[in-house]
Amino acid sequence: MNSAEQILSVNNQKSGYTQIEQTLWAELESKEVMRLHCNETPFDIPQNLKQQLAQKMIDLAWNRYPDFNQTQLHTLIAKEAGLAPENIVLGNGSSQLIQQIISCCSKFLSEAIIENPTFTFYHQVCQNERIPYRQWNISEEDYSDLTHFPQVSEPSLIILTSPNNPTGASLPLATLETLLKRYVNCIFIVDEAYGEFGGESALPLVNKYANLLVLKTLSKGYGLPGIRFGYAVGSASLISLIKKYTIPFTINIFTEAVVTEFLTNPSYKNVLKVNQARIKNLRDFIFYLLLEMSDETSFKVLPSSANFLMLRFYDAALLTQIKSALQARNIMVSYPIAQCLRLTIGTEIEMNKVVRIIKNTLNQYKCSIKELIASEQQVVE
Ligand SMILES: Cc1ncc(COP(=O)(O)O)c(C=O)c1O
Repeated sequence: MNSAEQILSVNNQKSGYTQIEQTLWAELESKEVMRLHCNETPFDIPQNLKQQLAQKMIDLAWNRYPDFNQTQLHTLIAKEAGLAPENIVLGNGSSQLIQQIISCCSKFLSEAIIENPTFTFYHQVCQNERIPYRQWNISEEDYSDLTHFPQVSEPSLIILTSPNNPTGASLPLATLETLLKRYVNCIFIVDEAYGEFGGESALPLVNKYANLLVLKTLSKGYGLPGIRFGYAVGSASLISLIKKYTIPFTINIFTEAVVTEFLTNPSYKNVLKVNQARIKNLRDFIFYLLLEMSDETSFKVLPSSANFLMLRFYDAALLTQIKSALQARNIMVSYPIAQCLRLTIGTEIEMNKVVRIIKNTLNQYKCSIKELIASEQQVVE
């Protein structure tokens, strides 16, 4: 019996699974881990498009440095963002730009304000760059609630992510504008790593506020984390300051070739649109399935504008049970903050499986609670 058949025979003992589902899941389980922990897309580029790109790479001169000013790429990205090339700085993924911007700002700003929760790399870079930071504890219910926004008196760096990772909530533009007007001496980063999946983009505000930087990446909505490409958009003066901290040739010729093709070739654009729509539909469908399962004794699921969903558990024991059920089946999800689970939207088959595991574990948990209550009642009687 091979490993797929072994898993199938175990699954056969369970009820509620169709034969086709069992076969597909057994296939998945026998192969590899299910990666639902770092907000990647489950859909790779079609093979024929990859082959066309590979041919383009063969035709490049590998013995030459890339264009020092990356003029073509700046022009292309500027068009995409609806601004001018001098409003753009390119990076080897947006993580590299986060490092570059914070390194630059730490030289002349007294502190940073970081949302809590947020992408943990921000804390790491602030610590490395020795810029002290305070946190803005955002409300899970209402991202526009500024009640707990810290008092800022000195020129500071204010870091916001929209949609937020890990909650999935998007910051309303009106709230952002309130902050931009209130703190004119601060520099703002608005990280829109998940912007293709929902929320309002801050890009139209760049011409209005010279202290605003919007961060974009091709790692999430474009499904290209392996390519390592991101960019920041801001006023020409702010961008020229950030560019002083650029390492020469951050974008290699292969990345440039892939990005150029993606932004100019309609076949790639179509693939992207289809994949983004598929993820968004599936996210909303899974949200409602989980919402139906949830209640005030088990967990809540937060509405999301990103390619993931966050679940907050009221009982740590239930989360522990779900965690071990997922781990036992090689399913990787993320546990970014206490009592929470973040689930990246994968394929329909992957989501079907995860939802069933959560449902089964929840049922078992509820039965064990009922049994516990019944046995305690017997003791009292
Ligand atoms: C909010 C946020 N910003 C930025 C990044 C970094 O993305 P990359 O460096 O791949 O562009 C991530 C990655 O998960 C993220 O969640």
